[in-house]
Amino acid sequence: MIKIAILGFGAVGQGVAEILADRERIERWIGRYEVVAVADSKGSIYSEDGISLKNAIEAKKMGNLPEGKSTMEIIEEMDFDVAIEATPTNIDTGEPGLTHIKACLNKGSHVITSNKGPLVVAYRELAEIAERKKVRLAFEATIGGAMPLIKLAKRDLAGNEITSIKGILNGTCNYILSRMEQERLSYNQILGEAKELRIAEANVSYDVEGIDSAAKLVILANAVMGMNATFSDVEIVGITSITPEAFEIAMEKGYTIRLIAEASREGLRVSPRLVPLHHPLAVRGTFNAVLIQTDLAKEVFVIGRGAGKIETASAIISDLIDIYGDRTY
Ligand code: HSE
Repeated sequence: MIKIAILGFGAVGQGVAEILADRERIERWIGRYEVVAVADSKGSIYSEDGISLKNAIEAKKMGNLPEGKSTMEIIEEMDFDVAIEATPTNIDTGEPGLTHIKACLNKGSHVITSNKGPLVVAYRELAEIAERKKVRLAFEATIGGAMPLIKLAKRDLAGNEITSIKGILNGTCNYILSRMEQERLSYNQILGEAKELRIAEANVSYDVEGIDSAAKLVILANAVMGMNATFSDVEIVGITSITPEAFEIAMEKGYTIRLIAEASREGLRVSPRLVPLHHPLAVRGTFNAVLIQTDLAKEVFVIGRGAGKIETASAIISDLIDIYGDRTY
């Protein structure tokens, strides 16, 4: 019996709960499991025997989770095998996720997270604790939502040296730029609509100033390319000064403009770049797209939905099955 704790119950945490409520789907992969706690910053529901996910989702819909143990009390006092950490991202401090993740790893629980902050701030330290404690730290959901990238690069491209990773890591920017491309609207005309898509960060300047893309790039550089990068190593230019006229000129020459994040031995960079109109990275809407360049497999392209409640939850579930799936296949 696998005991799961869900820490953070916003859109992603609730998406995970919805998928886990479908036992027929998930037990085929990992056998029997119970969610023993669901918590957010305002309340929690918990029981060592397992809680009703439907009730937890319903409680959240009606308002807040009931007052109960705090997230740290759940971590310290309850018995669980794996924590799903989906609290909001803070790229400066990594908190509160950083403290949660450290505490869970130190007590010997696996951690699956969608939270970029802790990995940007302390990837090496967290990876070392996980290794020492012989537990897994999995974070497919931090980059590109449902777009397979971390496990693809680490496992399916095993044996390759990854020489560069470049592409679109922010759906909000891509939506804005592709609307500018197609309708020649100004940046400000589309910004409001982009916020309504519910994939923008709470502070949309994280998206449009390239900060979210840079955070994801740091995680990729460290976790997939074996670099030792920090956020300040990334050269960042956002999309706020791109004009419809810039698109006019680019498109006359057969190009479009996309916010491209690139990590290579030459460094880390996020900036608007010209992309040939029919290039695989010239995706439209909220899609993310990445080109992984390797020495043996050469070019590998991946395109997928980089954000969204169920899409991001799908990446978390894939990590869960990756940790426990060998029980059944
Ligand atoms: N704000 C992000 C985006 C969400 O637009 O891609 C996924 O990290």
